[in-house]
Amino acid sequence: MRVDYTELSKTIAALTEGETDEVALMATVVCEVHNADSRFDWTGFYRVVAPELLKIGPYQGGHGCLVIPFARGVCGAAARTGETQLVPDVEAFPGHIACSSSTRSEIVVPVWRKDGSLLGVFDIDSDQPDAFDEADDKGLSGVLREVFGR
Ligand code: SME
Repeated sequence: MRVDYTELSKTIAALTEGETDEVALMATVVCEVHNADSRFDWTGFYRVVAPELLKIGPYQGGHGCLVIPFARGVCGAAARTGETQLVPDVEAFPGHIACSSSTRSEIVVPVWRKDGSLLGVFDIDSDQPDAFDEADDKGLSGVLREVFGR
């Protein structure tokens, strides 16, 4: 099953209409995204909780590491640069943090609030190599902008 980002956005918009609580919004986004595509084996948020520090938020899949400094990992790179990280082979990414030995590829998207502050990053791991592409970056960024940037 492959995600239809247009339909996914409509579903999430309907489920979150009028909601402003960030935890409720994150939990709903994770649930809907994780179950939308068989490539997605771990789906979750890491939140900015202090300068240069991320802490796990709502997620689905196996346990995730709790704390990630901006200096480490794919999540830290996304938070540090403000740019999506598309990782076709996690073994080739310097400093990749392996929460599961089965992960082969990863996408991490920065999440911005409407005031321009960085809420955190949205991380999806896949057990399939080279599972993500620009269409996923565009689709996920659009969903996240509609939910958190509005
Ligand atoms: N792989 C991430 C860490 C989070 S686990 O994948 C859930 C990273 O390198 O930042």
